Amino acid sequence: MTHHDANGAALVAAARAAREHAHAPFSRFRVGAALETEDGTIVTGCNIENATYGLTLCAERVAVFKAVSEGHRRFRRVAVVADTATPTPPCGPCRQILWEFAGNLEVILGNLHDVTARYHMADLLPAPFDARLIAEDPNTR
Ligand code: THU
Repeated sequence: MTHHDANGAALVAAARAAREHAHAPFSRFRVGAALETEDGTIVTGCNIENATYGLTLCAERVAVFKAVSEGHRRFRRVAVVADTATPTPPCGPCRQILWEFAGNLEVILGNLHDVTARYHMADLLPAPFDARLIAEDPNTR
């Protein structure tokens, strides 16, 4: 399929818009994410906190779980936006979920004005644990 958003500007714009929906009354740190599927669909997420703090969901996982729940299984890129000059990369648990559902996808980090960093998941999560290792154990077969 033709790639209409080569530099990811539209994806980053979608993450900025999703950030507006963040529910972050405890940290006040608002994050938006936008996940691009293989067919070009954009599925967004924002961080959602709650009064127990520990049940907080990051923007990235909200985007992945929304996408999976809507039938998407193949992904190209994710954009993550916060209002900081320093890029906000996915946290450890989000790296695991992004890797398991999206593999070595491109990760575009930005703020309200700029793209500030680009990675691939394999660089953010080297030596990952995933289902291939479970399948390698003779006791699981
Ligand atoms: N957060 C995200 O949504 N994504 C990230 O990549 C980093 C952290 C959220 C979780 C919490 O609601 C707030 O940012 C502060 O950690």
